[in-house]
Amino acid sequence: MCGIVAAAARRDVVPTLIAGLKALEYRGYDSAGIALLTDNGLTRVRTKGKVRDLETLYATQPVHGHTGIAHTRWATHGAPVTMNAHPMASRDTVAVVHNGIIENHDELRSELRALGFVFTSETDTEVIAHLVEHHHSQGLSLLESVQRTIARLHGAYAIAVMSLREPGRVIGARRGSPMVVGLSDDEQFIASDIHALLPVTRRFIYLDEGDVAEVNIDQVRVFDAQGQQVERTVKQAHFSADAVERGEYRHYMLKEIHEQPQAIADTLEGRLSGGHILTEIFGVGARELLTRTRAVQIVACGSSYHAALIARYWIEAFAGLPCIVEIASEYRYRQSVVMPDSLLVTVSQSGETADTLAALKLAKTRGYLSELAICNVPESSIVRESKLSLMTRAGPEIGVASTKAFTTQLVALALLALELGRHHGLDNARYEALVKQLETLPGALRGVLTLDGAIKQMAQHFVSKQHALFLGRGTQFPIAMEGALKLKEISYIHAEAYPAGELKHGPLALVDEDMPVIAVAPNDHLLEKLKSNIEEVRARGAELYVLADEDVAHGMTRDRDHLITVPRCGELIAPIVFTVPLQLLAYHVAVLRGTDVDQPRNLAKSVTVE
Ligand code: G6P
Repeated sequence: MCGIVAAAARRDVVPTLIAGLKALEYRGYDSAGIALLTDNGLTRVRTKGKVRDLETLYATQPVHGHTGIAHTRWATHGAPVTMNAHPMASRDTVAVVHNGIIENHDELRSELRALGFVFTSETDTEVIAHLVEHHHSQGLSLLESVQRTIARLHGAYAIAVMSLREPGRVIGARRGSPMVVGLSDDEQFIASDIHALLPVTRRFIYLDEGDVAEVNIDQVRVFDAQGQQVERTVKQAHFSADAVERGEYRHYMLKEIHEQPQAIADTLEGRLSGGHILTEIFGVGARELLTRTRAVQIVACGSSYHAALIARYWIEAFAGLPCIVEIASEYRYRQSVVMPDSLLVTVSQSGETADTLAALKLAKTRGYLSELAICNVPESSIVRESKLSLMTRAGPEIGVASTKAFTTQLVALALLALELGRHHGLDNARYEALVKQLETLPGALRGVLTLDGAIKQMAQHFVSKQHALFLGRGTQFPIAMEGALKLKEISYIHAEAYPAGELKHGPLALVDEDMPVIAVAPNDHLLEKLKSNIEEVRARGAELYVLADEDVAHGMTRDRDHLITVPRCGELIAPIVFTVPLQLLAYHVAVLRGTDVDQPRNLAKSVTVE
């Protein structure tokens, strides 16, 4: 979604701002803009479309400045047109960029109109620019003006503000949307995401809820929600700009698919010892909490929700504890029942998804035993709001379609399910065998990645299709859902997933020779049932694609069918292994159809608005 980069420096900040915006492109956006304080006043360059369009504008009409704010916008209020692109300005003096939504913008707009301010956009953000200018023009400093302004705002925001009256200074503020301050010796920065600043610094302050930062060329001051100056810890980023390079790969998504063996090895590292999972990895007091847990509630969105659905099978099977999984945007608006001694688990790659964060905040008022975050970003809001956490170590994921974040979430959830199992009667020999299986996972994924060529061939059959049906049973049903999601989000082919047993209750009516059906067939206790479902589909003339475990692949397909033989793997890790060919299928189909694989239309990486 929207991205913010801002800088106060002695050198021209335009190259840093453009590089920062490019690093944020992965979040998804539809317009971009930069405002600068120059010798000739406040200048703004904004455009619908991509950052490269902005770059071309700067190349043809160079403008330089030492203080600047920049933004990529994902439209919420008002169409994605230049007029609505940020930065928003007031009286050519104050400029503002904003992530989030201001809910009381109508009321503020009426007030500001009555004061003589003229609105030039349809955005909610413009009220912030005028409100700051209203206070500032009456003699308040920029810092005080921002503090007065945010006191009036309802909703979620991360903002960066600058003024012609105070060059060399940017004010940042956050509530409900992430923001970091990047520190350097003689220049300072603000961004919504550290990726934007990795080429210029590795030292960051992660602002807390309600914080306001005054960022000057030589110095940064942070004030808390009560306006008191506070010291916030300076953290060192543990990865460099290289970690977000595409390298030899054509797309980030392909790179991230191939990074999965390493990402999973990293996620397991230090979490196992002597064939056991170390309970402390979940946080202080985890042993006692997991022992007391009598039920589990998981909330998540998107691919993270699919990961959670698989965890439900595991938790109920290994620990015998009831597990409910719900989409965060449903959970938070529903009167749900909290079972006694329930553990609340959130699953989120970014740790900033607005609905998951809101669900967590709500859950904290509802009497759960504790809350555990499974997340890929240690400094994220969701981790900070949770008592317990288990970090996935996927590294930065840039492709909008989640791949390595999803499979590392499954690893983290498997650790949780097994650990709950150990404290709730899972047979020790079985526990140890399952932990051993997890240890084989990086190797198993390296094996399944060798199917890339075969899947690329298979992808050609999908290029002109309009629809596709994915079938799975048991833990492979959510994997089929994830496969369908991958295909629809990056290739724009309509895809649905069904538990294979449900076929007869509706989707079979759709099956004919134009409907490709993809069946996920590991060697498990449901295989015979799945085979019958495959027969039902075949009998209707569907084009059938079967992903089958090598031990059972023989005889799975007939003349017209397509078969992908997946290397043998254990039942626990099978959902993770079978995910990879589905990721590759979606990837190759999207490449053949010529879509924007890493930044699919209308989608965003981190959904920070409801
Ligand atoms: C967006 C992303 C998905 C992701 C979902 C949940 O829709 O495009 O890839 O699964 O948000 O995000 P989270 O960061 O909470 O896992």
